[in-house]
Amino acid sequence: MRQDDLPAVLQIEKQVFSSPWPEDAFSSSDFGESWVICEDATLVGYIMYHNVIDESVIINLAVDPAYQRKGYGKELLKNTLHQLTDRGFTHFFLDVRVSNLAALALYEGFGFQRVGLRKGYYTLPDEDAYVMAMIVKREVI
Ligand SMILES: CC(C)(COP(=O)(O)OP(=O)(O)OC[C@H]1O[C@@H](n2cnc3c(N)ncnc32)[C@H](O)[C@@H]1OP(=O)(O)O)[C@@H](O)C(=O)NCCC(=O)NCCS
Repeated sequence: MRQDDLPAVLQIEKQVFSSPWPEDAFSSSDFGESWVICEDATLVGYIMYHNVIDESVIINLAVDPAYQRKGYGKELLKNTLHQLTDRGFTHFFLDVRVSNLAALALYEGFGFQRVGLRKGYYTLPDEDAYVMAMIVKREVI
């Protein structure tokens, strides 16, 4: 994700999340790494994660509603996991709303498991989060 991707990223962020991240959250280097995915010249999705030693936490993943169910979310996650496992990362974590069936299905399809529950983690609406984790030895996909 580059600086000039931000307008398209923010547009998607505002469409898909009830508490979208503000622009400076994307500009900050705190989140670590990020990738976007495009259809032709149109940015249609993005993923962000931060890494500590052998752990990676996926902190944002979204696909433009007009381009959902076309495999872009899967592609972003697959590439991220391939790339990180190639670099030696073995532990992957994320939080997800308990009602987010699309994301749950996507993550569980890659082998993530529900390992915890954060009560009242989200607002707008108030909701719990599943903590999901996947530990890989070698190849995941
Ligand atoms: C979750 C999200 C990123 C999935 O992106 P996507 O590009 O639509 O997903 P894909 O087309 O790659 O689908 C991959 C798998 O996810 C699951 N999935 C995706 N959308 C789904 C839906 N609406 N209902 C049920 N399962 C769904 C399916 O298992 C699907 O595999 P299949 O097509 O073989 O059935 C997208 O729905 C999104 O941006 N949601 C809003 C933001 C969000 O919730 N982000 C995750 C925060 S934790």
